[in-house]
Amino acid sequence: MNPFKYGTIVRGEDFYDRKEECSRITETLLGGNNIVLYAPRRFGKTSLVFKVIEQLEKKNVICVYFDFMTVYSPESFIRLYAKALSERQTNLDKFVKNFASAIKNIRPTLSFNTDGEAEFSVDFANTPVDERVVAQLLDMPEALGSSRKKVVVFFDEFQEAVKLQNINFENLLRSKIQKQVNTSYLFLGSKTHILHELFDNKKRAFYHSAAQISIGPLPEADTIKYLQHKLASSGIALDAETGRYLISAAGNIPHYIQLLASEVWQYLIGNKKTVTKPIVDYCVKQTLALKSDYYLELFNRQSQSKKQLLQALTAGGKNVFSAAYINTHRLGSASTVQRAMKELVEEGIVEKLKDEYVIADPFFKAFVAEIMRGIMP
Ligand SMILES: Nc1ncnc2c1ncn2[C@@H]1O[C@H](COP(=O)(O)OP(=O)(O)O)[C@@H](O)[C@H]1O
Ligand SMILES: [Mg+2]
Repeated sequence: MNPFKYGTIVRGEDFYDRKEECSRITETLLGGNNIVLYAPRRFGKTSLVFKVIEQLEKKNVICVYFDFMTVYSPESFIRLYAKALSERQTNLDKFVKNFASAIKNIRPTLSFNTDGEAEFSVDFANTPVDERVVAQLLDMPEALGSSRKKVVVFFDEFQEAVKLQNINFENLLRSKIQKQVNTSYLFLGSKTHILHELFDNKKRAFYHSAAQISIGPLPEADTIKYLQHKLASSGIALDAETGRYLISAAGNIPHYIQLLASEVWQYLIGNKKTVTKPIVDYCVKQTLALKSDYYLELFNRQSQSKKQLLQALTAGGKNVFSAAYINTHRLGSASTVQRAMKELVEEGIVEKLKDEYVIADPFFKAFVAEIMRGIMP
């Protein structure tokens, strides 16, 4: 079986490193503080959070993990969050009783799935779902804990909470969190520009309400060791220099490193026994070819100014609003570049790092570069 995993949360021996980040996060949460965790998409935030949950549960902390990605309305929030709260409960009957007494307007129900496991859900009957019900639900984590038992709530893809603006969710949650003493919160998400707006803007409810932690790429030396170890178990050799080459071809992003390594493994498993740079190049090309329909569609969908900016970014993304950059790449006016960049960041196509802008998907970047050179991958 292919030893490289991507596109899912990685756990156990598929997860490496992040020890410092893990203990820093764990200690901050145990100290009763809230955290906002920043990192671009596919850097391993969710996987790290699951590692933190594992550590905290060993310390007898109740952990609630909730992903805002599928929330689209107050009803869906209530249904999904209520389920998330029930998920790590050892005694569901007791939870149902507590739930029923805490939240008057909706009915909790237990049913059994085909595997015979008890499943919690809520029934709204004819109750209109308003701010009050959401407020009661937001009190639940605190009720699960006690002065001796801490609770930590993990809100993943938290930027999607802005979809609940119509019930004033941001202010409501903030006012609840302020009163809770047994519960800490960790907020994380992929759209870092929205999270920054929520936590760094003086006018927003969450302004400076959480310690800020960011994670970067995984350390190169450790990644090489990890790749060597995994490949060696299939009898494949990788030297450090080629390892570095692979990491760089994957834009030094954890997800794409695993994806490319997985392609390399697939290519070599037949008979060849050593990874070489031409093999890495070949696997990059294979990946581009597989995704070329999608990439072409994505590229063609962009306006002329965004296309030009994307092409410029393949050569580097520092000082992009300077006259020098704009002239070199013939990007028109500064305001056009600013507008195009804003849209690309909002769409998640471009990521803003500390002092530069990068195309988030290194393979899409390679694709755009090939188009520029007149080659259709
Ligand atoms: N610590 C890690 N060890 C091994 N692989 C990792 C690690 N962190 C991330 N990855 C890789 O990146 C992918 C994306 O991780 P994920 O946690 O979903 O990122 P995010 O939540 O930041 O988008 C994983 O499927 C895995 O391939
Ligand atoms: Mg994630």
